[in-house]
Amino acid sequence: MKQMPANQSPYARHFIALDHFLKTHETLWRPIPFVARQLAWEEEYPELSHWLRQQSLEHAERYQNHPENVPAPSPFNQIATMAQQLSRLPQRDASPISVNRFFNVDIPGRKWAQINAFAGNLDFVGETQHWLDWCSGKGHLGRLLGHSGVDFTCIEYNAALVAEGQRLTQRLQLNGQHQHMDVTDECAAEHLHPQITPVALHACGDLHTHLLQLACSKGCNQLAIAPCCYNRIASESYTPLSIQAQNASLKLTKTDLRLPLAETVTAGARVRQQRDLSMARRLGFDLLQRELREIDNYLPIPSLGIEWLKKPFSRFCQDLAELNGIALPAEIAWDALEHRGRQRLAEVRNLELVRNLFRRPIEVWLILDRALFLEEHGYQVTISEFCSPELTPRNILILAERILS
Ligand SMILES: C[S@@+](CC[C@H](N)C(=O)[O-])C[C@H]1O[C@@H](n2cnc3c(N)ncnc32)[C@H](O)[C@@H]1O
Repeated sequence: MKQMPANQSPYARHFIALDHFLKTHETLWRPIPFVARQLAWEEEYPELSHWLRQQSLEHAERYQNHPENVPAPSPFNQIATMAQQLSRLPQRDASPISVNRFFNVDIPGRKWAQINAFAGNLDFVGETQHWLDWCSGKGHLGRLLGHSGVDFTCIEYNAALVAEGQRLTQRLQLNGQHQHMDVTDECAAEHLHPQITPVALHACGDLHTHLLQLACSKGCNQLAIAPCCYNRIASESYTPLSIQAQNASLKLTKTDLRLPLAETVTAGARVRQQRDLSMARRLGFDLLQRELREIDNYLPIPSLGIEWLKKPFSRFCQDLAELNGIALPAEIAWDALEHRGRQRLAEVRNLELVRNLFRRPIEVWLILDRALFLEEHGYQVTISEFCSPELTPRNILILAERILS
């Protein structure tokens, strides 16, 4: 076992409580209702299971992003309260950075609001000398941070975004460079040194953890990240960054890392309809394949193009059966099977509400791992919500600074 620091920070104590909560209740959030017909916890909590299985699809939809409000039988409410308490973070509310009226003409409204909220909250104690926008896209964030005259560099591996970013920077006559680069290449590390302040807004999994490691080893005095896509990692399971998380009881798989991302900014009606149709059909086919193969296990299905949803349900199943080498009997009651698929969809989506209670606690566990890693490397760290979840559900900002005396 590696050594733990003797005096614990508030984040370290928060982490211990969260780790214990998630470990204690892992039977509630690990099993995925879409792939398991019966969940182990349903035997333990039959009343809760029965109640959820009686609810409609509309009910699940209504509470999807706010499962804590579901008026479900015990122990739902108690767990919801704990989950909320353990994932509560301070909320920041910075005033928007004022720029001239041409500055943001090329930036979609929601993106502009996210960037502005992120940039407005970078209240470092020391002066920033050079911003480095990590996985910058078109570099909207770097440009906003550099608009008052501080130099900035944006690094990004999509060449079209780099070119467009450079064009926008030149048009505004700012001191910014846009470089075409893979941040995992060795040359990206050369950009980092104590006077460089890296910022990463929504750099995926390995891309932002790589930045944290580089920033610590290169001694950057300041940095700020808002992580996303925790599951975009090369390994099959999560490798904690901090010593404390390495010693923790919870071990996360790649599948677990997808759970915090299940919260969505409300999708349009058409997208929701397509998603529900696709899921209901898959669940209908799942019942059929279990029966015919006489194996009560989920059979993974690859992602299917939109044209699959235009086929009649019977053809959908026949084609999937052929793809999986399953022989079909001559007579199948397709209408009844399709109906059962729809019914199962409502059950699955309502049972998922239990898992959904753990989305934010798992995300905060991951965020605390990053914060503790930075603390272990001598940074003063603050974690906060930099905007509302409606603007982006990935709204957690980690701000780190080495305070120089
Ligand atoms: C979710 S976007 C965020 C863009 C920008 N930070 C923003 O908030 O608008 C992630 C960006 O990372 C870039 N990216 C992905 N992998 C990368 C890599 N290995 N090196 C550099 N950029 C990468 C993508 O092309 C994309 O522009």
